[in-house]
Amino acid sequence: MNMYNPVVRRVAEPSEKTRIAREILEALTEWFEVPEYREEYIRESSGQIFFAAEENGEETGFLCLKETGKPTVELAVMGVRKEFHRHGTGKALFEAAKECAAAAGYDYLQVKTVETGHYEEYDRTNLFYRSLGFQELEVIPEIWGKHNPCQIYVMSLKKGRDLTKLIMSRRSYRGKYKPDRVPREDLRTILEAGLAAPSGCNKQTTSLVAVDDPEILKQINAAIDPPVCETAPAMICVLSQRINAYRDRCFATQDYAAAIENMLLAVTALGYQSCWYEGHITDTDRICDEIARILNVPEDYELVCILPVGKALSEPGTPKKKPFEERAWFNGFGNTEK
Ligand SMILES: Cc1cc2nc3c(=O)[nH]c(=O)nc-3n(C[C@H](O)[C@H](O)[C@H](O)COP(=O)(O)O)c2cc1C
Repeated sequence: MNMYNPVVRRVAEPSEKTRIAREILEALTEWFEVPEYREEYIRESSGQIFFAAEENGEETGFLCLKETGKPTVELAVMGVRKEFHRHGTGKALFEAAKECAAAAGYDYLQVKTVETGHYEEYDRTNLFYRSLGFQELEVIPEIWGKHNPCQIYVMSLKKGRDLTKLIMSRRSYRGKYKPDRVPREDLRTILEAGLAAPSGCNKQTTSLVAVDDPEILKQINAAIDPPVCETAPAMICVLSQRINAYRDRCFATQDYAAAIENMLLAVTALGYQSCWYEGHITDTDRICDEIARILNVPEDYELVCILPVGKALSEPGTPKKKPFEERAWFNGFGNTEK
């Protein structure tokens, strides 16, 4: 736990920004040695996104962000008074800036420093940036001269956002498919996503069969009445084993549900469409058993679901979902307080 308590605030007033920048940078001449460069940082800070850190009412550090491209923002300058190093101040400033940059819609965050191996102080700065998750992009000696090779670090701000967007864009597709084959490597990626899902006590009760042989697909589709995936160029059949996780607790249903959702997301990520067909094949007519027979599935496995896979010929429907407030809350059932 951090025994110090740095507090970070956003500063809006230009004169307050330059005052704080001056006070901190003039106390850090080991890093900001050349007066002209220091003055430039101070001057430019007035127009930048500015965060100040305080500890027990004392200003201890600051950080500025500046846009360097439409999707990219640069951590332009950052300074923490030496006596407050190792208090978590730099990290707190960085976290506030990163959150602000991501919320403003930027995709990348970059920062420049002197390459490792030239000066002890900058070696520590490099370690600090790496510990925050920055990755090496390039070293360019021309920027600050060959005695100070410029190391550029970069960080993606998109990670979580991309996945959330993908999750939100998945839909059940019940239209026709293009006849194009699904490459084996894509089918393998989808199967691997299914196998990567969690399972109760890691019993891994779910197994999968991908079918892309047109002859076998034809036999399977002949058994599906009414037909629902006859145009799909591939299909994944989900098999489940009723193995107890512990005592009499069997999580096979939860296991295959997690595997299916993982696969549906992988399908979406790769640009294909699918639909979770379970009700349709496990009803009283037991289409699932006929598909299992075609695929030589042993008796102790149940075929529980099929997922067609292919490129869509039309747009998937958009089913109406209940509003957030009707199904999800914070700190108590039905609590709609913000
Ligand atoms: C356990 C389960 C069984 C399902 N079985 C079928 C099915 O047999 N036929 C079908 O068209 N859709 C089936 N679905 C898909 C749902 O109808 C679909 O997820 C739901 O309408 C919401 O639409 P969305 O997936 O686009 O969000 C099934 C989904 C689940 C979770």
